[in-house]
Amino acid sequence: MDLALAGRTIAIAGSTAGIGSALTTLLDREHARVLLVGGRSERLTALAQMLSPETPIGIIPGDLRRESDRNRCTNALLGSPELDGFVFLPVEFRPDAISEVRSSEFRETFDVNVFSAFEFAQAALSRASSSASFVFVSSIDAHRHPLHTPSASYDSSKRALESISESVAVEAGSRGIRSNCIIPGLIRTPMTEDFFGQEFEADRRRFLDAVPLGKPGNPEDVADLIMFLLSPLSGYINGTSIPVDGGFLCQGL
Ligand SMILES: NC(=O)c1ccc[n+]([C@@H]2O[C@H](COP(=O)([O-])OP(=O)(O)OC[C@H]3O[C@@H](n4cnc5c(N)ncnc54)[C@H](OP(=O)(O)O)[C@@H]3O)[C@@H](O)[C@H]2O)c1
Repeated sequence: MDLALAGRTIAIAGSTAGIGSALTTLLDREHARVLLVGGRSERLTALAQMLSPETPIGIIPGDLRRESDRNRCTNALLGSPELDGFVFLPVEFRPDAISEVRSSEFRETFDVNVFSAFEFAQAALSRASSSASFVFVSSIDAHRHPLHTPSASYDSSKRALESISESVAVEAGSRGIRSNCIIPGLIRTPMTEDFFGQEFEADRRRFLDAVPLGKPGNPEDVADLIMFLLSPLSGYINGTSIPVDGGFLCQGL
């Protein structure tokens, strides 16, 4: 299927690992152009070197916990060529209970997961083409379920992203711009690698028993959905939050 992404310019924050790296590889295959925003410089350079020479149009490293780095990335986005897509994936995850988390830690999670998303999306909106598509990434942990271990700052940051995506969808829809959020379940990436170790075998088994498909997803399962949402083929999908979780959330657990 031709996703009609050739020649389209997509800004991706969080491209250097897991889902973002899979997405960038797929965009390269479709001959899209990518602007890689945020993350570690050496990783961004290594990723760009693996792509076709014409695919990366810019690399803007930045540690999104730092305000100065966020500002630099935002300014680069403000000066970018016209954008046909914007995807936000960076994540700070800490297993913190609401009764214990310090407000400095809570704030740091929000700096990476929410304030960066808001600041980058605002800049990307000012550079967005009349058929641009925005994609944000939430998590099943933003939706209550009994197998959930405490991660209060992460969970609330993810719920905030769903709302930010809806604001973009509603406010920018009249310009032809769409925005959607996806809700991944358990995906095997560097972020979750510990959970696939011996130590968590029983927890993992218990979790996967509650997933109708009985297995974790891989980064490409999520990247494929993002590709579709970036594509003009999803041109009437706007303002939604779509699970890609093997059927986990639909059980109303
Ligand atoms: N994997 C799952 O099971 C799962 C489930 C639900 C939702 N999600 C969501 O999916 C998205 C991608 O997750 P993933 O599993 O692909 O994670 P990952 O493999 O750990 O990749 C995380 C990405 O975020 C970037 N990042 C992290 N901290 C950063 C910081 N302070 N400044 C700049 N960039 C930073 C990393 O860049 P550098 O390493 O270059 O700094 C990397 O590119 C996240 O939003 C996550 O919440 C994942």
